[in-house]
This record gives sequence, C-alpha cells and structure tokens, in this order.
Amino acid sequence: MRHIKIFDTTLRDGEQSPGVALNHAQKLEIAHQLARLGVDIIEAGFAISSPGDFECIQRIAQEVHGPVICSLARLNKADIERAAMALEPAEKRRIHVFTSASKIHLEKMLKKTPEQILDLSREMIQFALQFTDDVEFSAQDVMRADPEFVFQLYAAAIEAGATTINIPDTVGYGAPNEYGRIIRTIHDDVVAGRNVAISTHCHDDLGMATALSLAAVENGATQIECTINGIGERAGNTSLEEVVMAIHTRKDWYHAETRINTRELYRASRLVSRLTGMPVQPNKAIVGDNAFAHESGIHQDGVLKHKDTYEIMNAELVGREAAVMVMGKHSGRAAFRKALSDLGYEFSDEKINALFARFKDLADRKGQIYADDLRALVESRTDVP
Ligand code: KIV
Ligand code: ZN
Repeated sequence: MRHIKIFDTTLRDGEQSPGVALNHAQKLEIAHQLARLGVDIIEAGFAISSPGDFECIQRIAQEVHGPVICSLARLNKADIERAAMALEPAEKRRIHVFTSASKIHLEKMLKKTPEQILDLSREMIQFALQFTDDVEFSAQDVMRADPEFVFQLYAAAIEAGATTINIPDTVGYGAPNEYGRIIRTIHDDVVAGRNVAISTHCHDDLGMATALSLAAVENGATQIECTINGIGERAGNTSLEEVVMAIHTRKDWYHAETRINTRELYRASRLVSRLTGMPVQPNKAIVGDNAFAHESGIHQDGVLKHKDTYEIMNAELVGREAAVMVMGKHSGRAAFRKALSDLGYEFSDEKINALFARFKDLADRKGQIYADDLRALVESRTDVP
C-alpha cells in the first residue's frame, strides 16, 4: 500500500473563501483538530500577507505537534525569510514557494518571460533550502500552460533541490484523464525515480476537484492538497473528507492509504463550518446532513434487511451517528413499522396497515415526518382497528 500524505490547506487556501476571516483562536482550534485528525502537513497561512497571519503561523508552529507546519511564500527573499521566521518554533517545518506556469499568468500578471521564471525558481528554491530541508514548489495554472514548459519548470525545481513538487489546477480547468496524464509524465519522465514527492492541488470550478485529485493518485501522486468541507477560493478546493474516504473505501482500486483518523472527520467538518460561518450543503458527500439518510421505501427496506444494500461505508466510521431513516412520503411499511417500534409501539399487521394509510396522507401534506408526528398519529382519536 502506498502512503498518501494529506496536506491540509484549510487555514490558507480555505481561508481565501469569500467572506471568511478566522481569528487566531479559531485558527488554533482548527489546527489542533487537524492534528487530531492526523493530517501530515498543515499549511498554516501565508506569513508575509499580514502581521496577523505571521503571528498565527508562529503560534501554530509553537503549539501544534505532530504534523509538519508549512507557510506559503512567493519567489522572493522577503517572502521566504518571513515564512522561515514564522515557522522557526515548529518541530517540522516546510516552506512552500510558488510561481505560475501559464502564458496568461506570466504575461499579464507576473510580467516575466519563461526563462526568468526558470531562473528565479532555481534561485529561490536554493534560498529557501537554507532554512529547511523541506521545500515544496508549485507553479499555478498548470492545466492552461504549455506542457513542455511545465515539464521543464518542474525539472529545474527538482535540480534546485525541491523535495515536493505540487501540480496545481488553479482554476479547476482540467479533465480528470488529462490531469492524470500530466501527472504520469511528471512521474515517469521528470521525477524519474528520484526521491521527490508529487503533490496534487485542485480547485472545484467544474465540480471535479476530487476526481482530478484521485486521478493524480492513480498516476503517481503521493500527496493531496485539500481543505475541510472543500472550502476555498471561488468554488473551493478538493474536499479532504471526500478524497480520504474514497481512498479508504476503494483501497482495492487505489492500493493506497492515508493516516487520517476517519472518526474525527465529522467533528472537523462541524468545527470548520461553525467557525467560518459556511454551512455544509445537505447532500454533501460524507459530512452533509443527508449523506447517511434513507428516505425511499425500497432503500429503507433494503437497509433494514442489511445495511450494506445501500451503504458503502458506516456513518460511525466518519464519526457520525448511525444511518437514519427519514420518514416521508417515499417511506415504506417496513421502515414505518420500525420507526413505531423504536418509539415503543408494537401493533398488529392490521393496525399497522390502517396507520400507514394515514401516515401517507400526512406525509403528502407535510413532507418530512418526525417522531412527534408519529406519536400524534398513533395517539389521535381517529378510529383504527
Ligand atoms: O491554486 C493554486 O495554484 C494555489 C497555489 C498557491 C498552490 O493555491
Ligand atoms: Zn489553490
């Protein structure tokens, strides 16, 4: 089994979600939960971006033990020095330097030629290596860049000493197989057996960040960059809980595992949602309210007979209460009988049939039916045999 490292960037890319600003105490609380979860690397912030970010990275570096603590830095000495200073107290520290690979970024944003980017990347990676032997290199917007330049840039980064090369699909443009092919070429021809980790960093603009990240794992990546609940710039980043549970549930396919304590996933999701003020959509995989709820009669009947009929993982495994049966107009007789039995009511088939007809009428009018509605239904004076 290959070990896939989980690089959590909730506190850096995740905090770039529109409208989100976490204070020190909140960031520290999230960092402690990430350590409990067992992530391998915490990207704690972008040290030069503000004095607040600097202090917060420093406190996380002092107080959070276990994961490698990382700060982002652009390709300039001031950024790298600031990152190194903030990370100084950490047991294990990483400096993550980044530039861009696409023509549009180089020409319109950075105003540099490809040769200048190559030189600067080599020079700044070597500069960062003075402060730590763990230096990650990223080039933004790989999926809209010229692949030949991408390969040349990452080859230069490896020669300069980068220990992890991260391949960002910054604007969520890639198709899964296309991204997988780029990762495969980087793995086979650029890294070519050297001791350098390949990392994936995807955004969800077309709803495919998880698919791309997993395509990267299939093609040689051993690190996934992701955030809790998939929060981040625009449509967000790869969702940590999704990739972790996909790898866990389909070990047979990915032949890989993470070190995440999956039982802490739900708690991490609730915490991040509460502190960022970003609700989780009900149908969100793994952590949404409906992710382990069954409503239709056929599904409820199946799950009551054997839960594996409609469940590919246990709710308990991700730290949630057991799967729930939602009572509504699609519910069947078996689930209705079970719901009444859970409330302490045991009835004959005849009485169940009569009550069930009234339950269906009520569900048509009301939508979801709760325990109190069931009690009222049973205890109302309407005559049933
Ligand atoms: O999306 C991106 O390209 C980034 C880089 C800084 C890694 O967040
Ligand atoms: Zn990003």
